[in-house]
Amino acid sequence: MSRFLTFGALVQGSGGHIAGWRHPEAYSTGQLDFGFHVDLAKLLERGRFAAFFVADVVAIWGHQLESLSRTGRAEFFEPLTLLSALSTVTRDIGLVGTATTTYNEPYHIARKFASLDHLSRGRAGWNVVTSVVPLEAANFGRAEHLEHSLRYRRAAEFVDVVRALWDSLPEVLRDKESGRYYDPDVLAPPHHDGEHFTVRGPLNISRPPQGHPVLFQAGSSATGQDFAARYGEVLFTDQPDLASAQRFYAGVKRKVADAGRDPDRVLVWPVLAPLVADTEAAARARVRELDELLHDDVARRLVQDNLGEVDLTGHDLDGPLPEVPEGNRSKSRRDLLVGLARRENLTIRQLAHRYTGGSIVAGTPEQVADRLETWFRERGADGFNVTFPYLPGPAVDFVEQVVPELRRRGLVRADYEGTTLRANLGLG
Ligand SMILES: Cc1cc2nc3c(=O)[nH]c(=O)nc-3n(C[C@H](O)[C@H](O)[C@H](O)COP(=O)(O)O)c2cc1C
Repeated sequence: MSRFLTFGALVQGSGGHIAGWRHPEAYSTGQLDFGFHVDLAKLLERGRFAAFFVADVVAIWGHQLESLSRTGRAEFFEPLTLLSALSTVTRDIGLVGTATTTYNEPYHIARKFASLDHLSRGRAGWNVVTSVVPLEAANFGRAEHLEHSLRYRRAAEFVDVVRALWDSLPEVLRDKESGRYYDPDVLAPPHHDGEHFTVRGPLNISRPPQGHPVLFQAGSSATGQDFAARYGEVLFTDQPDLASAQRFYAGVKRKVADAGRDPDRVLVWPVLAPLVADTEAAARARVRELDELLHDDVARRLVQDNLGEVDLTGHDLDGPLPEVPEGNRSKSRRDLLVGLARRENLTIRQLAHRYTGGSIVAGTPEQVADRLETWFRERGADGFNVTFPYLPGPAVDFVEQVVPELRRRGLVRADYEGTTLRANLGLG
């Protein structure tokens, strides 16, 4: 099986960089503008992106209203609603939505993604998350966010039930002669009665065109990686450099093999935020422009919210990061940030800039293509989850300048080769 580079776009209407919406060239009303999303999806199809990906939390994205009020993160489309609408105006691109296993029920999720897969004729994907924002709990009548390992136990049972539901109504007879629409036996599948869920089934929509919509996952902690190895087909990850990406890649592929699955059928997609310009200096100037747009309150909260159990109020932004205890949020992200700050002796402000700009790759089209090629060839990545710091400029630049360069190098497919997301990812 020949390897080829694949892309998904992590689309946030206000831009992937938290201050991106303030950029003079950003289309700042993009967040809830459907026409804008349609134009983007069509642009990405021209660049042969495999997937249009919508992230989600079921809350506003942070509880510090002062800093949140300075970002575009307090309103966004519900992913499946947006993707269903996009399914009618796109032809090839995969439509991947995030849904949490902590604040949903499996029957709802199985049904929604089966519907999206039917609507799009086999282009649906589900990014399985267990929720990282504690604020979500408060919207579902819970005083506390579920503990990390319990979230993953619930997630495992959740996905098992969803997959069984997708398989539960395999054939529809529609036999006018006999008068049977369904085989009566399939309407009475085995019940599921587990630790977290009791589900009679079957699903009230027949098996999705892909069989199972493609499962995306981004667990990074040890528990998260075990879960990803068992269920994930495309694994998102945030990696600071090639060596870390290679470690993650090799480690998680080993876990996939240990779980009895084929590692070539599981793709690793690190996050990449491209900023392309005619010269390297011009591209770097763009990064500095974004850094300067990051307000102090936003910088402070960004670091704090990703660290979990620490209060940075009153700490000098230009001073060092204080001690940060382990918490119940994302362990991997805490370890990554604390490690970076300690290793490089960064101030809180510098850490915020590194965090927001961490996945930015700035350079000429050739330099950006070089970076992608190295990570791909040296097994740090099978593809990339591309987030554009602001929109639409950097997305247009990437599609018009970097993708043709990758095509010249024979790294990407020139066309969609199949009609389903699964086929276009080479997942069989
Ligand atoms: C590219 C990427 C996208 C993610 N998107 C979401 C999301 O939309 N919603 C969410 O709750 N978590 C999201 N996460 C967080 C992961 O689901 C996961 O919780 C996180 O990577 C920490 O891993 P851990 O739970 O194993 O510690 C994302 C992570 C990455 C790297």
